[in-house]
Amino acid sequence: MDKRLLALVPEAMRHVLLNVAWQWVSLISNVVAVFAVCRVLQGLGAGGDLSLNVYLPMILAAIVVRVVATHFASRESFAASADVRRLLRRRILEKVLRLGPSYAEKVSTAEVVQLAVEGTEQLETYFANYLSQLFYSVLAPLTLFFILLPVSWPSALVLLVFVPLIPVVIVIVQKIAKRILGAYWDEYANLADNFLENLQGLTTLKVYQADAARHERMNGEAEHFRVVTMKVLSMQLNSIIVMDIVALGGAAAGIAVALWQLYGGATDLFGCLFIVLLSADFFIPMRRLGSYFHVAMNGMAASEKIFRLLAVEEPAERTAHIMQGDHFSLQRVTFSYEEGRTALRNVTIDVPAVGLTAIVGESGSGKSTVARLLAGREDGYEGRALLGGKELRDIVRGELARFVTTIASSSYLFEGTVRDNLLLARPEATDEELWAALEAASLAEYLREQGGLDAEVGQAGELLSGGQRQRLAFARALLKDSPVYIFDEATSNVDVESEAVLMSAVHELARSKAVVVISHRLANVVGAQRIYVLSDGEVVGSGPHEELLETCPTYRELWDAQQRLEAYGKEVRDEGTV
Ligand SMILES: Nc1ncnc2c1ncn2[C@@H]1O[C@H](COP(=O)(O)OP(=O)(O)OP(=O)(O)O)[C@@H](O)[C@H]1O
Ligand SMILES: [Mg+2]
Repeated sequence: MDKRLLALVPEAMRHVLLNVAWQWVSLISNVVAVFAVCRVLQGLGAGGDLSLNVYLPMILAAIVVRVVATHFASRESFAASADVRRLLRRRILEKVLRLGPSYAEKVSTAEVVQLAVEGTEQLETYFANYLSQLFYSVLAPLTLFFILLPVSWPSALVLLVFVPLIPVVIVIVQKIAKRILGAYWDEYANLADNFLENLQGLTTLKVYQADAARHERMNGEAEHFRVVTMKVLSMQLNSIIVMDIVALGGAAAGIAVALWQLYGGATDLFGCLFIVLLSADFFIPMRRLGSYFHVAMNGMAASEKIFRLLAVEEPAERTAHIMQGDHFSLQRVTFSYEEGRTALRNVTIDVPAVGLTAIVGESGSGKSTVARLLAGREDGYEGRALLGGKELRDIVRGELARFVTTIASSSYLFEGTVRDNLLLARPEATDEELWAALEAASLAEYLREQGGLDAEVGQAGELLSGGQRQRLAFARALLKDSPVYIFDEATSNVDVESEAVLMSAVHELARSKAVVVISHRLANVVGAQRIYVLSDGEVVGSGPHEELLETCPTYRELWDAQQRLEAYGKEVRDEGTV
C-alpha cells in the first residue's frame, strides 16, 4: 500500500471502503445461508424435524441479500475506477500544461501518452480491485475465525494460521516482481518512443530505403519486449500455483481437523459440515488478492513513473505583465539546448518598439534560437532577456503569445478552408480584411481563381505549394495585429516576385510595429535600421548595412558571396545557357 497513491486520488478511497463494507455484508449472508443448510442437513441426518419453515426463508433471504450486496460492491468498484481514471489523467495533463511549451525537454511525449493511457488503466485495477481486496482479505478470515471459534476452536485456529502464508508468498514474489516489472516498463516506453518516431519519419525512411534496417531494429526491440513480457507472465503463473497450494492445503488442513474432531466426538455433524463449507471462504479473498496483486504491481510500477512525472520541477509562477510600448532587449544572453553545446553566447540584441531589426548569419549560427527566445519558447537562458525591463521567463505566458507573432517557414496550416485558417488569427475579421491580408501576402490573385476564401487547403496545407503555404501563413500573421513580428525565413520557399511583395509588406509593417526579420538573403534586410550578424552563436557585428560592410568582415563576406551568386545567375540568364 503506497500512501502517496492514496493521497493522489483521495476521492477514490471512499468507494474502496464502501466496496469492502458490501463485500462483508455478502460474506455474512453467505454464512447465514450455510448455517441454515447445515441445520437442515443435520436434521436429515438425525431423521427428525427439518424446520423448513424457518430455514428455507432464511436461505432465500440470505441469497437475496448476497445478490444485492455483490451488486453494490461492484458498483463501488466501478466508481473507484472511474474516479482514478478521470483524476489521474487530469493530473497528468495539468502537469504537462504547467510545464509549458518546453515540457519535452523534461519528459518524452510517448511516455506521457503511455502513462496517461495504460499506466492509468493499471492503476485503476489497483484501486478498484486490489486495494479493497487488501482490506477485505484481512477482514474476512478474522470474521470467520470468530464465527467458527465456538463451533470448533482447533479448526478455526488451523484455518487462521494458514491464511498469512499467502501474503508471505506474495511478498517473496514482490521482491522478484519489482525488478522484472521495472525492466518491463522501460522496454515498453522505449519501444513506444521508437515506434512513434519511425512512424512519423516513415516517408523519409522510404526515400532513403532505410526502412528495412529500422524494421530489423524494431524487431529486435520487440523481441526484447516479448522476452520481458514472458518473464512477467511466467513469474505470475508460478506464484499463482504456489498460492493455490497454500490456499487448498490450508482448507484441507482445516477440514481434516474438523473431521478428526467429529470422529473424536468433540463436535457434531452440524459443526463439521459448517466448517467444511466455510473453510474455502477463509482463503478465497486472500487468494483473489494474489491474482489482483500482479496487475496492481504493474500499476505500482507505472505509478512510480507517474510520481516522477508529477515531481518534475515546474517553472516558477509567472506574474509580470506586458505594457504598451515595451520593447525587447537581450543582454549578454547565453543559451544551450543541451549541455556542452552552446547555441548562443553573450548575445546582446535590442529590438526597438518600432522599426525593422534584422538578424543574419550562416546556417546554424543561432538565428532561430534568438527567435525562439524572444517568443518565450525557451526559458533556460543565462543573462538577461528583457521585455520592457521584465525578465521574459517571468511574463505571464499568454501575454507573450499575444504580444509576439512568429512566422517561421514551418508555420502550421490546418485542414479546412483558407478562411478557417485566417480566422484563427482574428475570429472577428471581415471578408474585406481577409482579402486585404491576402493581397499583402500576394496570394489574393491566385485564390480568386481557386474558389476564394472557401478553398480547401488540405491537411497541414498539403493542397497548396510550399510558397503558397508560406504566403497564407504570412497573411494570417498580418491579421493578428500584434505589436511584435518575427519573420524567420518566412519567404524561403517563395519566388522572387512574391518575395518582393512580401518584403514590402514587411517594411510597411515596420513603420508601426517592431519587426524582426531573419533571412538568408541579405538583399531582404538592406533597409533595416539595424542588422545583427551572428556567427557561431555570437554577435560579431551590428549596425546598418553600409556601416557593416565597412566594419564587419563576416558580413562583407556574406554579402560578397551573395552578390557573386546573383551576378553569376544574371550572366547565365544573359547568355541563355546553363
Ligand atoms: N531543438 C534543438 N535542440 C538541440 N539543438 C538545437 C535545436 N535547435 C537548434 N539547435 C542547435 O543550435 C544551433 C543554432 O541553431 P539555429 O536553429 O538557431 O540556427 P539558425 O541560425 O537558425 O540556422 P538556419 O539558418 O539553418 O535556420 C545549431 O548548432 C543547432 O544544432
Ligand atoms: Mg533557422
